[in-house]
Amino acid sequence: MSLKLELRQINKKFINPGSDTFVINNLSLHVKSGEFVSIIGPSGSGKSTVFNLIGGLIQPDHGSIILDGKEITGERGHISYMPQQHSLLPWRTVLDNTILALEVSGIMNKKQARIQAKEWLIRVGLAGYESAYPHVLSGGMQQRVGFLRALLSPQEVMCLDEPFGALDALTRMDMQRWLLSIWEQSRRSVLFVTHSIEEALFLSDRIYVFSDKPTQVLEEIKVSFARPRGEDILLHSEFMRLRAHIYSLMKREVIL
Ligand SMILES: Nc1ncnc2c1ncn2[C@@H]1O[C@H](COP(=O)(O)OP(=O)(O)OP(=O)(O)O)[C@@H](O)[C@H]1O
Ligand SMILES: [Mg+2]
Repeated sequence: MSLKLELRQINKKFINPGSDTFVINNLSLHVKSGEFVSIIGPSGSGKSTVFNLIGGLIQPDHGSIILDGKEITGERGHISYMPQQHSLLPWRTVLDNTILALEVSGIMNKKQARIQAKEWLIRVGLAGYESAYPHVLSGGMQQRVGFLRALLSPQEVMCLDEPFGALDALTRMDMQRWLLSIWEQSRRSVLFVTHSIEEALFLSDRIYVFSDKPTQVLEEIKVSFARPRGEDILLHSEFMRLRAHIYSLMKREVIL
């Protein structure tokens, strides 16, 4: 597999009056083409900051971000990004929010985009909500719309920041299965932030475990369960071993 996205030796400090926050310390990571990579780490360690850097919303103090061999540091528009706080536009309907990235890219006319998006809304249980506005949806439904928007955007790398964080346990499991089935067909390159060790193990090819800030990669973990994956892997001895290992890494990090 070729390299798709690469972060090389990134440093980031936020300078605020009276207090500077050193968030990212010499961080390097990569995603190969068609790979599903998760990031797991303590709250406040800098995971969303990493996504803001990749998305070009903020600039690193040092280091570079490379996509398909070309430097994109500080540039916007190269990746499909689903932020932690949903960013649905309140004045657009669910359907029009879903097609936003497709519309902006101009690769599909609005009518085609709407037809495609309607099919997807049915598949994520949002049939009948096409004309609703975001404020009438539950938090979980808003996240599903945000997720669809990222999925339907044309960029090849998807950065998903805790997309299932606000969902109840059963819906979350359904969404994970659903995401896997979509991803196994499309094989987009995915960088995924989660707080759930099980979710990371279930979905990923590799996991980066982050330290507390200033964040560094504590360990890179390869998850080699065969695909397509089913829930049977949750009971696999290797799954339990990896879960215990990541848990102990994170516990040490939080206690220290
Ligand atoms: N624009 C900013 N200005 C100053 N400090 C910031 C800014 N953005 C983030 N930070 C600080 O950087 C640190 C990392 O924040 P970030 O949101 O990246 O953490 P996170 O790992 O995504 O946390 P969580 O798991 O809770 O979402 C925090 O201490 C936060 O207060
Ligand atoms: Mg975050």
